[in-house]
Amino acid sequence: MASVYILLIIHLIGFGILFTVTVAGWVLSTQYRKAKDPQTKILLLKSQQPLGILSPIGIAIMLASGIGNMVYLGLGPFSTGWLSAKLVFFLLLTLSGAVSGTRSVERTRLVAQLVDGKAPEAVTTRVDALDRQLRIFYVVQFVLLLIILTLSVVRP
Ligand code: HEM
Repeated sequence: MASVYILLIIHLIGFGILFTVTVAGWVLSTQYRKAKDPQTKILLLKSQQPLGILSPIGIAIMLASGIGNMVYLGLGPFSTGWLSAKLVFFLLLTLSGAVSGTRSVERTRLVAQLVDGKAPEAVTTRVDALDRQLRIFYVVQFVLLLIILTLSVVRP
């Protein structure tokens, strides 16, 4: 019995990591967009880098502890509707995190070029496009997390 509690606690720690990473990334990204000084902008982007490492750790914890919960409770991926739906939204969250992660790394690299004054004109346009895309990604990821949480708690 104790092992299912341990798995659930690990599962909730993983959720805490994912939620914190999403909100912190969103807040830092908003501060970056508001900042006028290029040095401050690059500092805010670099301070987001540890989040890019924590995020796959959170995903791995959720997956491992979630599979552990399933094994312990004797549930398959299609045993219950809420679990099947949750797995689909979890896949979407993982894919969205992978795409936004690569775009975020690209943005940091390009903004560093702008700060160095070595960037061609096209870089500014690309950074603007990445800013817009990443803004949408944060909202999408936050909504996906809330959907997964609701499915897990309500279990319709
Ligand atoms: C961001 C992703 C996820 C979030 C936010 C999340 C959230 C939660 C929460 C809050 C609970 C506790 C529900 C309760 O006891 O009231 C839970 C339980 C559970 N989760 Fe997840 N989860 C996630 C990913 C996963 C994944 C990927 C799997 C499977 C591979 C999974 C399988 C399970 C199972 C089997 C339970 C136990 C349900 C029960 O006690 O009957 N979860 N999850």
